[in-house]
Amino acid sequence: MNRRLAAGAAVVGTAAVLTLAGCGADGDDGESSGAGTIGVAMPTESSERWITDGETLESGLEEAGYDVDLRYAGDDTAGFKQADQVQAMIDGGAELLIIAAVDGAGLGDQLEAAAAQNIPVIAYDRLLLDSDGVDHYVTFDNYAVGVAQATSLLRGLGVVDADGEPTGDEGPYNIELFAGSLDDNNAHIFWQGALDTLQPYLDDGVVKVPSGQTDIVQAESWRWSGDLAQDRMSGLLAQFYGDGTTLDGVLSPYDGISRGAITALALDGLGPTIADGMPVVTGQDAEADSVKLINEKMQYSTVFKDTRALADEAVRAAVAYLEGGEPEVNDTGTYDNGVKVVPTFLLDVATVYRRDIDEVLVDSGYYTAEEVDAG
Ligand code: GAL
Repeated sequence: MNRRLAAGAAVVGTAAVLTLAGCGADGDDGESSGAGTIGVAMPTESSERWITDGETLESGLEEAGYDVDLRYAGDDTAGFKQADQVQAMIDGGAELLIIAAVDGAGLGDQLEAAAAQNIPVIAYDRLLLDSDGVDHYVTFDNYAVGVAQATSLLRGLGVVDADGEPTGDEGPYNIELFAGSLDDNNAHIFWQGALDTLQPYLDDGVVKVPSGQTDIVQAESWRWSGDLAQDRMSGLLAQFYGDGTTLDGVLSPYDGISRGAITALALDGLGPTIADGMPVVTGQDAEADSVKLINEKMQYSTVFKDTRALADEAVRAAVAYLEGGEPEVNDTGTYDNGVKVVPTFLLDVATVYRRDIDEVLVDSGYYTAEEVDAG
C-alpha cells in the first residue's frame, strides 16, 4: 500500500503536493503548521478503495500543513456511527470536513451544525443529500461510469465494437442487472447511465433480461454488498435459468458486487473463464481482487477511477477554502442534492480490459505487477 501511495504521489500528485507545500510555506503560519484540523469521514474499510482514499487524503492534507481526524464508519450498520463521528469532528474543532457518506441523506443535523459554525463541507465521491450545508463536491463523472459499464457489457457480448458502434450482431443475449446501495446517490446515476445505454438494445430485443427485474429496487445490493449480490445471483439462476436458458452477461456497478455474482456463477458450474461460458461481468473501482479476476479472464472489465487524483482534488479544494478562496469547479448544473445544486469538480474515468491492466494500472503506479498478478 505504501509503495502504491508513494508511486501515486509521484505520478499524479506531484504538482498538487508541490503547490500545496508551497502554500503552506508561504501562507498563514497559524493555518499551515498543524494548528488546523480537517475531519475526514470515510464510509468503510471493507473495500480497499476507501482505505486508499483515506490514506491519500490524510497524507495530502498533512503535506499541506494540516492535522487530520480520519474516521471510518464501518458502513454504519447501526445507523448512526458516521453521524456520531462527524459530530465528534465538529465538537473537536475541525475547520473543514471532507465526507464520503454511508447514507447520503443521513447527516442532516451534522451538516446544519457545520454550516452554523461556518465549517466548509466537501462531499467526497458521494453527494450529500437533502441539505444546504454542503459547499462543494468532488467526484468522477458518475453518469459516464454507467455508460462505460453498459458499453463494455455490450462489447463483451459482441453487440458493439471497440468504438461503441453496433456490430450488427442481433443476439439475442440474456443479461441480468445489478445496482448499488440505493441510499448512495451514485447508485442511481450509474444505473441511469447504464440503462440509457442498454435501452435501444432492450427495445430491439438484442438483449433481454429473462428475470424481468429491470427496476433499480429489484436490482439493488444494499451497502454494495457482494454477499447479497451472490445470493441474488444464485436465486436468479435457480428461478430463471434452471431450464437450461443461457446467461450471457451481468451488468455490475462495483467490483465487490461483480465478485459476488461471479462466485454464484462459478458455484453454478459456469466458467471458469469467459471462453468456457462464464458470462461477461462488468465492474468498477479496479479493486486488486477483481483485476486479478480480469487477468484470469473470469471478470470481463472494470471502470478505473483514480482515487489518488480524487484525493488530490479534495485537498486542493480544502486548502482553497481554508485560505479564504473558492475551489475550482467544472460542473455547476448536474448535482442537485434535493435542496441545492452543489458546485462540483468532476474527474474522468477509464474502462479497463485485460489488455489495459499494465498500461493503466501498473505503469501509472496504482498497483505493482505482483499485486494484480493472476498468480
Ligand atoms: C460508490 C462509489 C463506487 C464504489 C461504491 C462502493 O459510491 O462511487 O466507486 O466504491 O461506492 O464502495
